[in-house]
Amino acid sequence: MDSVLLLSIAIVTISWLTWMIRKSRKEATSPLPPGPRGLPLIGNFPFIEPELHRYFSKLSGIYGPIFKLRMGKKIFVVLGSPSMAKEVLKDHDTTFANHYEMRAALVATYGGSDIVWSPYGSKWRKLRRVCIQELLNAGSLDASSGFRRQQVHQMLSDVYAKTGTPVDVGEKITQVIFNSMTNTLWGSTLKGGSDTGAAYEFRQVVAQIGTMIGLPNISDLFPVLARFDIMGVEHKMKGAISWFDRIFDTILDQRLKRDKDEEENENSIYKDQMDFLDILLKIKEQADPRTPLSMTEIKALLVDLVLGGVDTSSTTLEWGMAEMLHKPETIRKAQEELDAVVGKDNVIEDHHLSKLHYLDAVAKETLRLHPPNPFLIPHTPSETCVVGGYTIPKGSSVFVNLYAIQRDPSLWENPLEFKPERFLTPDNKWDYRGNDYNYFPFGSGRRICPGISLAERSLIYVLGSLLHSFDWSLPEGTKLNLSDKYLGVIKIANPIMAIPTPRLSNLELYALH
Ligand code: HEM
Ligand SMILES: *[C@@H]1O[C@H](CO)[C@@H](O)[C@H](O)[C@H]1NC(C)=O
Ligand SMILES: *[C@@H]1O[C@H](CO)[C@@H](O)[C@H](O)[C@H]1NC(C)=O
Repeated sequence: MDSVLLLSIAIVTISWLTWMIRKSRKEATSPLPPGPRGLPLIGNFPFIEPELHRYFSKLSGIYGPIFKLRMGKKIFVVLGSPSMAKEVLKDHDTTFANHYEMRAALVATYGGSDIVWSPYGSKWRKLRRVCIQELLNAGSLDASSGFRRQQVHQMLSDVYAKTGTPVDVGEKITQVIFNSMTNTLWGSTLKGGSDTGAAYEFRQVVAQIGTMIGLPNISDLFPVLARFDIMGVEHKMKGAISWFDRIFDTILDQRLKRDKDEEENENSIYKDQMDFLDILLKIKEQADPRTPLSMTEIKALLVDLVLGGVDTSSTTLEWGMAEMLHKPETIRKAQEELDAVVGKDNVIEDHHLSKLHYLDAVAKETLRLHPPNPFLIPHTPSETCVVGGYTIPKGSSVFVNLYAIQRDPSLWENPLEFKPERFLTPDNKWDYRGNDYNYFPFGSGRRICPGISLAERSLIYVLGSLLHSFDWSLPEGTKLNLSDKYLGVIKIANPIMAIPTPRLSNLELYALH
């Protein structure tokens, strides 16, 4: 008996050992991805070019669809083919479900109390559930649509006042998107007349935070040095956040005061509208054990929505307008559709949006050529993993080069041409759900953008309103310059100036009601 037992233990042990050896050999045989040689210790850090999208294209021309850069001790891996994107976002999705932490981002979001930087786990799941089921679902978006409508009408009336003179289109767009977002978050506090001074300052702070998050910084690359905070990023970020905190506390104070007043005032105009803060405070009050929300988590969530939603949507819209002005027949087609669906004696309402198929194709084509998150948000593997035959070490920062994939001439016909018609297929082949690794501007898998519905609505609503209410022309003797630059998102380098001419039959429609 004993010998049989011993024998079987021996067999199990031996087969386990051979399996282990094979496994480690297999790992050992998969090399690290190729990449440019760097300096000892600091690696490629000094050679990074700030126009990351062009720098990455140059390198993938040399090293192929997967390459690495060394940043001090860290390894950055850039993936530029659909099959590798699929390996990371689908086949190994749990391993890659974490976002690579950047120190600056952690400070901005209260030490990672938010969604974007929470590691994949129960807390992230909780916040994500709140975000998707409570805030960014159709019901809540409907309940808060009045807050966005008000801002779009404000914009149309502002633009109308500029009839015949050049308007900075990007500035108008950023303003309307920013105000729509903050109005959606806590609009009922500001009682319509939003405090423009605070809104302006807030935008400055958000822009500052955005650029700080967009670029790799030395504290991230050399954690030992982080304590000295060499570039002062963390310090600046703390400043920005304490400013946000002050605004937030003011808003909260006003909210609590309002709620008290409202109990006394039965016919408050905010009875049937709910902004996100209302919803979050309600969840907090109900204290559902599945979703206990702390005040810090609420703040971090709101910062996330502003950071995740404003720059992305407004950059996309700016590109959309630029590409359409560059190819005026697209404006004509969009206007024909708008006149048929909405009519010239009316303004766009929520219920029109799903019928505007051409504009939907314009939005999709814009997001193909100009995805605002060109490399998604860098992911990081929780264990060493083999992708495309190469080893990606645990803790690397993985950039999925969406920008390159969506412009790849082997996947797209005339990829650099702006052509919305490619998305008008009879079978509606393309959507934003991230099931097709040739086209996934919102990401794919567990970390896919939770804001797709809001983004989709805002893109079509704002673009549609600008084109439905006005004709646009370039000032005499000027030409559009479609050069881009990388600033965390890829932006148009030069402001678009264009002249609006009202085109609705009833000028009353341009007035604020
Ligand atoms: C044109 C508009 C937008 C685009 C193209 C876009 C795209 C993306 C992408 C590519 C990611 C990263 C996915 C990944 O890491 O794999 C992301 C994440 C995220 N987005 Fe968006 N987004 C847009 C608008 C919005 C809006 C309007 C909101 C919210 C109001 C939002 C909130 C977020 C959040 C919270 C995350 C992090 C999700 C997580 O970590 O689990 N985004 N988005
Ligand atoms: C790091 O942060 C500083 C300060 O905000 C910024 O000037 C710099 O460009 C950032 N990134 C790099 C790669 O130096
Ligand atoms: C377009 O803008 C870029 C970036 O600002 C500039 O370098 C380039 O010279 C401009 N091109 C023309 C034709 O003006």
